Amino acid sequence: MCGIFGVITNQEDISIGKIALEAIKRLEYRGYDSCGIVTNYNGELFIKKDSGKIDEIHKRLKLDDFPEGSKIALAHTRWATHGAPTKINSHPHLDCSNKIAVVHNGIIENFMELRNELRAKGHIFQSETDTEIIPHLIEEFMSTGLDLKTAILESVRKCTGAYGIVVCHTDYPDCIIVVRKESPLVVGIDNGATYCASDIPAFLPLTRQCYILDDDEMAILRPGGAKFFDVKTNDEVSKNLIQIDWNIDAAEKGGYPHFMLKEIHEEPDALRRTLKVPEEDIKAFAEAILSADNIYITAAGTSFYASLAGKFIITKFLGKYLQAIECSEFKTQLSNALPDNSAIIAISQSGETVDTIEAIRWAKNAANVKILSITNIVGSSMTRYSDHVIVTRAGPEIGVAATKTYVTQVLILALIGLKIATMKGVESEDEINEYCRALRKTPDIIENFLSKDIDLIQNIVKNLEKSHNFFFLARGISIATAKEGGLKLKEIACRFIEGYSAAHAKHGPISLVRDGFPIIFIAPPDGTYERLIGNVMEFKARGGKIISLVVEEDKKVTDLSDVTIRIDQPANKYYNLLSPITFIPALQLLAYYYSVAVGLDPDKPQNLAKTVTVH
Ligand code: M6R
Repeated sequence: MCGIFGVITNQEDISIGKIALEAIKRLEYRGYDSCGIVTNYNGELFIKKDSGKIDEIHKRLKLDDFPEGSKIALAHTRWATHGAPTKINSHPHLDCSNKIAVVHNGIIENFMELRNELRAKGHIFQSETDTEIIPHLIEEFMSTGLDLKTAILESVRKCTGAYGIVVCHTDYPDCIIVVRKESPLVVGIDNGATYCASDIPAFLPLTRQCYILDDDEMAILRPGGAKFFDVKTNDEVSKNLIQIDWNIDAAEKGGYPHFMLKEIHEEPDALRRTLKVPEEDIKAFAEAILSADNIYITAAGTSFYASLAGKFIITKFLGKYLQAIECSEFKTQLSNALPDNSAIIAISQSGETVDTIEAIRWAKNAANVKILSITNIVGSSMTRYSDHVIVTRAGPEIGVAATKTYVTQVLILALIGLKIATMKGVESEDEINEYCRALRKTPDIIENFLSKDIDLIQNIVKNLEKSHNFFFLARGISIATAKEGGLKLKEIACRFIEGYSAAHAKHGPISLVRDGFPIIFIAPPDGTYERLIGNVMEFKARGGKIISLVVEEDKKVTDLSDVTIRIDQPANKYYNLLSPITFIPALQLLAYYYSVAVGLDPDKPQNLAKTVTVH
């Protein structure tokens, strides 16, 4: 998510501002909307920060220009989660006395109650961020006589959520203190200088020796060295120094050859973070949907396929049909036909897709409607036209092919569906609990799959390398998986695919099938399974090569298939409903390895842009 960097040095003839600026430039690839740098010099903090691109801010503010002799700097690239991307919300954040500076990566979940407590004690807040409570908490503890280290320990013990934080204090000019829980933090050691960062590339040209902080660890950094402590016990811990032999390109990708592969592997954590989206936000969507007469769902590309899965889940619990309309068709199809009191769910990873924005802008003017947006980008254009917004917590997605954002979008739609079921009372409490348990298991199921089934996918790809045309077939909710899995192969491996209803395929597409034609069937054991078997047989009888995506204990589709990809999840209705989340990583990986096998760059598919801002 956010990028953080810190440096403390006793090296002579260096420009601390230049070091910090170059470090955050190396973190740019993570995606960000604002940045800032602070130096701690001669009992004063010097800050430069703003929203926008680093180069533009540098032109205006000269980000490398800080008082000569500064030996401590903290720097940050912000990816907004709490509060819009503005100068005020950019990091660093300070306490009331302007002595403590903090940069932070992660989310402090209980920040509202902490902020209320601190306000009651007289603390004044400048920003809307969760981060700003940290310097004020430290200040509050120090006012009781605690030293900086103990005050930080006490502060983080009060915070729930995820954090990688870096702190400096004007009264402590000889150290920087860092703490980690769930958000990455690494410490780099050089002669006479010590660095910390959210990501190794930030300091890679400066040193290749580093320590990796574990959860609930604190480090006190001094020039050329660091001491580590357990946050819970305050005991000193010893850590191994690691030698980094990656180049900068590999380091940016976390050791993966491509962003797409890295982002597929980030899906379990993206889901875990998204499961923590505030319940009030989900409730606001559910209430708006329940009180609307008509409900539409609109999006483009992968986000549209997420909406197909979500439409299925919400319709099931709502007992009313949701219409999914591609955003580019929304206005045309609903011209003069959009009723008042409608709710429109709009989904966009970027929040900037022009067709999606046009659809909701038009709808707002055409009728009395509520716009409910789901996006991965706080403050994106789409949010300006929305009555309610939910931000998925996938983190920046660099690969052009959407992967981790897809699973988080479906997860949010499932949470909304379950909230509707609870509010309508259409499912018993026990049933809802079973669905929720299955939902919370989705990250583990994907993690388990990614840890063991890569060889199988690579072998499938080896056997398919020469194929140029594919069918991805399914029934029911899995049609969304077929379309999205197929889209991945189409966009990054440049193969022609048809993602289609397995039932409908016999009305035309089946005429293409010849010996060895690859057909991928998505076959969770839900209510469509028995009929899908019939479809598998139809295609097998015509010589199709059957590759199926099934649950671990599957037998019938397995017996008909040439190859199966097995997802280790219980064969019951709770998990079947969530299979659009747990089955898709296999197809994303298939597309990824196929793209690599045929010599294409999966991160840069031809003719495609990450954000489509033209009609
Ligand atoms: O940012 P959005 O979710 O609105 O983007 C929509 C599509 O452009 C996007 O999903 C596109 O289809 C991707 N290349 C899919 O991988």
